Amino acid sequence: MHTESMLKDKALQDKTIVVTGGGTGLGKSMATYYSKLGANVVITSRKLDVLEKAAAEITAETGNPVLPVACDVRNEDEVKNVLAATIEKFGRADGLLNNAAGNFISPTERLSPKAFGVIIDIVLKGTTNMTLTFGKHWIEQKQKATVVNIVTTYASTGSGYVVPSATAKAGVLAMTRSLAVEWAKYGIRFNAIAPGPFPTKGAWDRLLPEPLKEKISMEKRIPLKRVGDHQELANLAAYLMSDFSAYINGEVITIDGGEWLQGAGQFNQLEAVPNEMWDMIEQFIRSKKGS
Ligand code: HXC
Ligand code: NAP
Repeated sequence: MHTESMLKDKALQDKTIVVTGGGTGLGKSMATYYSKLGANVVITSRKLDVLEKAAAEITAETGNPVLPVACDVRNEDEVKNVLAATIEKFGRADGLLNNAAGNFISPTERLSPKAFGVIIDIVLKGTTNMTLTFGKHWIEQKQKATVVNIVTTYASTGSGYVVPSATAKAGVLAMTRSLAVEWAKYGIRFNAIAPGPFPTKGAWDRLLPEPLKEKISMEKRIPLKRVGDHQELANLAAYLMSDFSAYINGEVITIDGGEWLQGAGQFNQLEAVPNEMWDMIEQFIRSKKGS
């Protein structure tokens, strides 16, 4: 059930949606579902060959047009070109999914300023560039629009070993909530999604590299004991992009099987206590009554 499409056919018909990082991983999955629901989709990233292949695959699956446009989100001129190419091909843009990101695990003291900065630039500056360029266009055109930003659960909690990413994603979350209020008067809606682990090559190569695979189990630390399925995320991303969510604005929706709360709840580690020990523990606690 959770791996099936959720929205009605044609739920995104007549919309043009731009997906950054849309040629791989989660971006490709969400772009595919947007296309399946009838949207014109524009996918962007740095690698045109990857985008062209992905666009052809998506169109073959859905029958709807997908425009690949090379763009480094750090470069303002290239971002402006995405807007121009979108308008030229489809006449308008209605939605923006800020999904492109860079990340890798490292003790923070090992990072050079350039290594820290490259993540901030892709995630925070890239999202800012896209949002400002498309936002100013929508305001000028007096056009309603929807922005969905992909963050992480540690955008709220912080996390060691991915500090540049946590810092940048926290900025994206703050921007989501800030503009949801400021630009509501223009009819521009902002929401964010905080995914837990959803296997992709891009993330796993950099966050769960071969030497660590044996030591760290993503599944074990998730209360639901499984990673996410791409369609589950695509369903949420389509709902938030669609008019069905018209009254949701400024939210961050976590989709992580309960992972971050597992880490946060002070006594959640009691999961490790075997069932047969609880009788003994209860007796021990009761014996202290009145002491
Ligand atoms: C320390 C590193 C490093 C590493 C790069 N650097 N990798 N430092 N440890 N593993 C340093 C470099 O030495 C250099 O600094 C600086 O970072 C820039 O590196 P470049 O290779 O020149 O940058 P660039 O070619 O722009 O590549 C960007 C990148 C790369 C982020 C480093 O990994 C990339 O292109 N990533 C895109 C895809 C991606 O990251 N996907 C994962 C998203 S997952 P110096 O000073 O040495 O010159 C995600 C999910 C999180 O966000 C949640 C999961 C549960
Ligand atoms: P991914 O496949 O590596 O996706 C990252 C995408 O960003 C790639 O398509 C990459 O394409 C693009 N990109 C990177 N730098 C760029 C730049 N400077 N300009 C334009 N595009 C750039 O990894 P993913 O797992 O699908 O991640 C997608 C999103 O989900 C990210 O925002 C990530 O933080 C978030 N997320 C993922 C997980 C997970 O478990 N997978 C969990 C939480 C959040 P190019 O290399 O071609 O540029």
